[in-house]
Amino acid sequence: MVCRRRTARYDSIARFYDWMLYPLEKRRIEPLRRLYVPQAEGLILDLAAGTGNNIRFYRPGASVVLVDTSRGMLDIALKKARELDRQPSMRFVQAALENMPFADDFFDTVVSIDVFCSVDNPLESILEVRRVLKPGGVILFVEHMLTGNLRKDLVLKTLNLLTVPTVGSSMTRRTGDLILSAGLEVIENEEVGGSFRFIRCTKPDVQRLKKDFSESKLPFETRSSPASDNSVIISRRGLRGEISETKDNQMRNSCNQAERS
Ligand SMILES: C[S@@+](CC[C@H](N)C(=O)[O-])C[C@H]1O[C@@H](n2cnc3c(N)ncnc32)[C@H](O)[C@@H]1O
Repeated sequence: MVCRRRTARYDSIARFYDWMLYPLEKRRIEPLRRLYVPQAEGLILDLAAGTGNNIRFYRPGASVVLVDTSRGMLDIALKKARELDRQPSMRFVQAALENMPFADDFFDTVVSIDVFCSVDNPLESILEVRRVLKPGGVILFVEHMLTGNLRKDLVLKTLNLLTVPTVGSSMTRRTGDLILSAGLEVIENEEVGGSFRFIRCTKPDVQRLKKDFSESKLPFETRSSPASDNSVIISRRGLRGEISETKDNQMRNSCNQAERS
């Protein structure tokens, strides 16, 4: 399922990876790590953690599981964690994103920085991420992708000729669409420089939605329309809005009237 060739490539470039990406890392990615990584809370999954460039930006004592398919990349991440004395609250797991050895609904936060450009099976991987994330848990994506701007995308397609054979990274993924296809709820989505976007998502909490539904705590305001007793206007309110007793009764009455007539 996972491309062994890709894993072998990362194993073989692991020692040079930080050096090869140094200009991009310093100019573009590091400021984004500094901004978003400290926002991770609870039990954290660092997705395709690579050489562990997020490690020093987690809050002190943060519990983090770093997963990557390349042993070479993880060895460097482990060395960094030791040097920064962050190892005690961190675990390093060699596994493929497509098939992670974690229970369902396990993590509070997933950090995904510069990941979906490299995975062979993006849809399988994101569905696995969704599986291991707790309902209501958060995913912090900092990913580069196609922009929808003709000129910029032409540059990205040209860059692909260099990045795919060297660091195995595609510049032309549609990660925004992928996130929506996986049924994740986007809370924040902004361009953060170049073709990078920051996307904060959550996994919808189906149990909570069911409970709210059964208790009539719907995100809608329902009331009888003055135009007709049988019609109902539904308008969006706050996410945890409640239907007041009177309005609930009005609606029931108008339904009863409709049934009788
Ligand atoms: C571009 S590097 C980014 C590393 C890290 N996220 C960072 O921000 O520096 C991509 C990483 O994804 C890992 N990777 C690629 N495909 C993977 C897969 N299917 N499962 C797990 N890791 C994978 C590679 O081994 C590599 O370490």
